[in-house]
Amino acid sequence: MKPDPRTEQLLKRTFIDFVQTSEFVEDPLIFDRAQGLYYWDVEGRRYFDAIGGIFVASLGHGHPRLLEALRRQAEKMTFAPPLHGVSSVTLDLVEKMGSITPGNLKYVKPFSGGSESVESAMKFIRQYFKQTGHPGKYKFISRYHGYHGSTAGAMSASGTGTRKTKFEPHMAGFLKVFPPTHYRDRFPSWDEANRFAAQAVEDIIVHEDPATVAGVILEPIGNTGGIITPTPEYFRMLRQICDRYNVILVYDEVITGFGKTGSMFAAQTFGVTPDIICCGKGMSSGVMPIGAMIARDDMAAAFYGPAEAGIQFAHGNTFAGNPLGSAVAIAVIDEIVENRLDEKARWLGDYLTTRLEGLKKFGVVREVRGRGILRGVELVKDTAALEPYPELGLAMKKTARANGIILRIDPSWFAVAPALIAEKGDIDEMCDLIERSLADALALVSK
Ligand SMILES: Cc1ncc(COP(=O)(O)O)c(C=O)c1O
Repeated sequence: MKPDPRTEQLLKRTFIDFVQTSEFVEDPLIFDRAQGLYYWDVEGRRYFDAIGGIFVASLGHGHPRLLEALRRQAEKMTFAPPLHGVSSVTLDLVEKMGSITPGNLKYVKPFSGGSESVESAMKFIRQYFKQTGHPGKYKFISRYHGYHGSTAGAMSASGTGTRKTKFEPHMAGFLKVFPPTHYRDRFPSWDEANRFAAQAVEDIIVHEDPATVAGVILEPIGNTGGIITPTPEYFRMLRQICDRYNVILVYDEVITGFGKTGSMFAAQTFGVTPDIICCGKGMSSGVMPIGAMIARDDMAAAFYGPAEAGIQFAHGNTFAGNPLGSAVAIAVIDEIVENRLDEKARWLGDYLTTRLEGLKKFGVVREVRGRGILRGVELVKDTAALEPYPELGLAMKKTARANGIILRIDPSWFAVAPALIAEKGDIDEMCDLIERSLADALALVSK
């Protein structure tokens, strides 16, 4: 529905992320409130939130335990200046994070979101190598289709077409490989496509000269590109390759962290521990902006020494590790651990997958991918030719909205990641809405 003149003017004075205002302003989605698994817009229409806002509301909206943690901390202290000190609740968060991470990933620095965490990790790695006798190591290998954030370094590591090409040239020293999906039809099996994709990382390291390569950064399950879900062997190979050449393996778990894949982190789901995990989004279920960089304990030693050595991490952000976000993140972790919501993501995810597999009856679904409750559906024109079907996805954006469901559609695949508070009946409601939206979209494109 066309907005009133004031709203239209205000919409033209701001922008919606990655969206054309002229199109948005014709029928804007203006959120008014949210509770549990639902949003309501200013017209009072209800939407099933199939994706936690955007992979954020991991425990749904307005979770009482999180609001209580926020209120208590707000009454005590809302800000502590990171240049002068640290808040006690942020130290509690460091301890709490250390209790849920794999291996010796215990060195924790909270930030304000995903981009900041990724950006910080890359600076951390470059400084780490300068201080450990490898000053020539500065290059990062990441993947096409990957998205790591909006800041200069995170953008340079991203491989998402026009989201990055508009801002070229990017920072020097960022190289790309393809994720395994790129090769899947060139190999007889998915396992072999994965092996080839992992091997390509080693080939690049060798070709570039290992003495210049600092890190490999990837989303364990890549959202952009359609919930790209490699084999566990892919990760084992990457781990071995990185170890062989003293290259830091970074998992960008901004989406996959905090239970969605069936473990607290995808590192645990795939059984391969990286050297650094970056996280954000679901860390506070959207109650406060927060993210974190979590590194191998022993890497911290490179930054620890006499003040005159000047080896401390030369980095900081005003809102990093703010007390409100820290308090909420602790409550999120406690809620997941106490209620075993990561385990719940496994069985609920199996049920969700069965329901999504049911969409194959429409003859336009190539594959349902993902782990836990993070799932993606790839749309094709027909299941023999496997040609992508962007028109269908674009139509589905409209029909999903009309049916009252929020998904991530882009445009030949769509993703879901319902909050961990969802029950089987909620999954049924969500999948019924998806099915209706897909059927309506098919009707639209065949007109
Ligand atoms: C995998 C991944 N990394 C990093 C980011 C950047 O996080 P933020 O938008 O909180 O800065 C995003 C955001 O969508 C993301 O999906």
